This record gives sequence, structure tokens and C-alpha cells, in this order.
Amino acid sequence: MRRSTPLVTESTAQPSTVSFPFVRCAKGSFGDLTALRDAGLWGKTTVAVAVPIAPASDEDPDVQPRAGTADIALAYELDLSDVAARARLSGKAGESYVLLVPMRRGTFERSQDEPGNIVLVGVGDECAKAYRRAGAALARATRGMAHVVTSIVDEVSPANTRAFVEGFALASYRQPRWGLASRRDQDEATTLTLLGNINETVVQHALIAARATWLARNLANTPSNFKNPQWMVDCVLSRVGSSPHLRAKVWDENDLATDGFGGILAVGAASSSPPRLVQIDYTPPRETGKHVVIVGKGITFDTGGLSLKPRDSMVSMKTDMAGAAVAFATIVGAAERQVDHHVTVLLPLAENAIGASSYRPSDVISMYGGTTVEVANTDAEGRLVLADALAYACERLEPDVLIDVATLTGAATLGLGKRHAALFTRADELADHLSEAATKTGEQIWRMPLIDEYRGALDSKIADLCHIERAREIGAGAVVAALFLESFVGTCRWAHLDIAGTGRASSDEHEVTQGATGYGASLLLRWLESR
Ligand code: BES
Ligand code: MN
Ligand code: ZN
Repeated sequence: MRRSTPLVTESTAQPSTVSFPFVRCAKGSFGDLTALRDAGLWGKTTVAVAVPIAPASDEDPDVQPRAGTADIALAYELDLSDVAARARLSGKAGESYVLLVPMRRGTFERSQDEPGNIVLVGVGDECAKAYRRAGAALARATRGMAHVVTSIVDEVSPANTRAFVEGFALASYRQPRWGLASRRDQDEATTLTLLGNINETVVQHALIAARATWLARNLANTPSNFKNPQWMVDCVLSRVGSSPHLRAKVWDENDLATDGFGGILAVGAASSSPPRLVQIDYTPPRETGKHVVIVGKGITFDTGGLSLKPRDSMVSMKTDMAGAAVAFATIVGAAERQVDHHVTVLLPLAENAIGASSYRPSDVISMYGGTTVEVANTDAEGRLVLADALAYACERLEPDVLIDVATLTGAATLGLGKRHAALFTRADELADHLSEAATKTGEQIWRMPLIDEYRGALDSKIADLCHIERAREIGAGAVVAALFLESFVGTCRWAHLDIAGTGRASSDEHEVTQGATGYGASLLLRWLESR
């Protein structure tokens, strides 16, 4: 990819990635194998068949068969509830067991041209979350298998179908690897055939959402010697070029100076890769909806600047542009879904490096729109680039709703951990709508207060505002950061999502994969779809 300036640490290594799974629907059932065989869905090329099991009930101490399970037991002449019992399965959501079906010697009664693996998948209490976990469990159990056929979503609700397909596609993801060809992961993408009576539109919607999350994960997982602000711009431009509904506008460092984006310029000043601002617009075919503006924090690496980070906390900072990745993935998904709203995404992109031209603690910088800010800690860079973009959005774009998404504060992680993002907004209805979307996608959010009494923490003796609390009397780092952002949104209906905790995962867990999680893309897309 083209870069504006050559990088000293440039890498020519090529990543090896897994491919997005291919998911399709087919009529039929495991009760009619002849028809399945005719349709090419039953035979040795189908590596596995997957069927659901649910927990034992009060009346029956065995795990319970669900759609297609009894048919498979009959087809293979197996007592699957005995298999489940001996494998100590409980049927809980997220449980899976692969039974390798042995070839029987000396008998020709049964055809050997049949799928060689039976996967039992727990569907728990059969709510959407359980189906999402079941999908994820199936993806992990069948990794590397070329073709899997399942009856799990036959006749289940659209919400459960969507959750299952999202869980499957999300858990199929793995971080790219940069290494020698011989060490590359060669796993083929799985083709998953969903058997039965299935809402195909819902399956397509699930795949669009999961693909958006994959995009966000891939961008955020890219090491920062590949990924600088211009690299992000190039990724955006190549996507926008192939979509008729998307347009992009880019500010380079000179344009940023002309228009007065002092926050983005200060933060990006020390890097040999200069900062950028990108605006992406999605215009719907029928403009019946609202104008939604989404701002994503795009720090392509956060050293902390002169207020240097301790060595251990710097390691994960290639993902400090996760907000930008999520905002971009959301608008790509919105264009694919052709949502009714006009969506604008703003990506303030900068590398918070350290060098002779670094901005300094005690500098006073002039933000977009003229507000002056006293800098006390160059590691609180995110709020500076966001404030520029938020002020620009309010002054120039007239949004009906303005949302920012950012890996903003370690304090958000301290407060809520790694599976809940902190939501700040004064708009109750907006909070409710975002929470509803979060419940549907499983990306959990927790609303936090904008505490007016803490506003004084940001008073400065020498500028309009200080960007952090210097006195250390209040603490509440995530709240104070949100209050700082709020002073740049004027009267806009605004919400701030702090994803510092949820943006990365240290291990695989259900649909969440190790590394950048893409948290927020599916959530924002769901919110856009449903309004
Ligand atoms: N990018 C960090 C926040 C962060 C921390 C994200 C851990 C993900 C994991 C942000 O730029 C930052 O450094 N914030 C400071 C603010 C402080 C200096 C007021 C923080 O949270 O310590
Ligand atoms: Mn920082
Ligand atoms: Zn940061």
C-alpha cells in the first residue's frame, strides 16, 4: 500500500489470514437422506453434520434432542443420548463434541459414503445469546473442515438464526499471522450449510454484521509498522471506490492547518507519518432517516508521547485506532445494508509518537473552532483528536445524532472490565436505543454518569480548558474525559462510547476472539438498522 512518507521500520512481510466463512441455506432435513444426497449435501464431501442438544429436563434426565438430532441418530444407528452422557455433555450453550464416526468393517449394510463426523452442539436455554454461543462453538469445533451441514436453526426464530450465524462467523476469525509460508495457517474456510426452514434475509444481515466486525478486527490487529494514518486513508479510499453509496474526503497535514484542527496536528506532530482526517459519507437511496455522525479515535500507535507510557502498557497500543476501525466498518456495513439514515464517519488519524517536534505537557493548543486547551499529559491524546472532529461535526454537519467511539481511558477498564463498554450521554432515549442494540448483538454496554460537579476539574488558569484533571482529587478518569468531550459538542444529541476495555481480548471466548475484538461495529450497525 502507498505511504506518504517511507517508514524506517517498514515491513514487507505478508499476512496470512483465514477467509470469511461461506454460509448458505438449503431446504431439506436429515430425515430424507436421499434428497440430501441428490442435492450434494450428504456424502463424504460433507465433512461433518452438526445437530443441537439441549439440557435435561425435569421429566427426562438425558440431554434433549432438538431439530434433526433424532434423524441423525437414526441415520447412523447410534444412541446419541448415550454418547452425550458418556462424553459428559450437559447441553449448555457453547458446548460442543465431535464424534468421529468409525468405518465398520465386515458390513455392507450401511453405506460408507456419509459424513465422517457428528458434532453435538449445546443450545442451552435457546435464547439468542445461547444460539450465538452455539454458533461460536460450532465454528471452533469444525475449524478446517471444508463443508459442514447443520439443522440447528431449522424452524428457530429470526433473532436466534441471526445470533447463531453471527456467532459462527465471528468465532471463525483468527488474527492474521506474519510469518514464513511454511508456518502459515493453511486452514480452508468452512462452508456451512443451514438446513431446513430458514429466513435467508436474516442470514445475509448476520453475515454483513460479522463481516464488518472482521474488517474492524483486521485493521486494529495490523501492526503499527504497516499501519500509519495514510495507510488507514488508503484502506478507506479503496473501499469507498468500490461502493456507489460511499464518498470520502481527506485532509492532509496542510489542510488540517488551514482549517485549524489544532488537536489532531499537535498529537500527530512528532511522527514521521503525518496526521490525517477522513470524512466518509453514506447517502441512502431514499433519504428518509436521520443524519448520524460517528467519530472514531484513530491513534495508529500510542506511545504516550513525551508523557511516555510505561513499557508494558505500550505493547497493546497498535489497537488505539480501534474506534476508527469500528466507525469505518460500521459505515461499510451500513452501505451494504442500505440503511435509511445519512451516515457520516469522521476519522481523526494520528500517531502519538515521541520526538523533537512532540507537543509538550504545558502547551496551549487551539482546537477546531478556536477553543484553547492546556495540555497537561500528552498521553491523554485521544480526547484532543476527538474534540477537533466533534467540534467540526457540530459546526459543519448538523447531525441529528453524534456518536463517538474510542479506546479512551484505562479508567473505563478499571471500572467495568473487558466485556462492558462505558456509555456516556445525556439523551435517555438514545441510551435506551443503544442498550437495546447492545443486548441484541451481545456487545454489552453500561451507562455511566456525566457528573456536573466534576466539571471544575477541567478549569485552566491559562486556557479555556485543561484536558485532564491535574489536581487528582476527583479521579473518575473516564467521566472527566467524557466531560471534556462534551464541551465540544454544543447542543448536539451526543453519546460517547469508551471501548478501552472491550476493544481487545486476551483470549478467545465464545464469539469474541483474541486480539482486537471489533467491539462496537455490529452494535452500531444494529442501532442504525433498527431506527
Ligand atoms: N489509549 C489510551 C487508553 C487505553 C488504555 C486504551 C489502556 C486501552 C487500554 C489513552 O490514550 C490514554 O493513554 N489514556 C490515559 C489518560 C490519562 C493520561 C488521563 C489513561 O487512561 O491512563
Ligand atoms: Mn494515550
Ligand atoms: Zn490513546
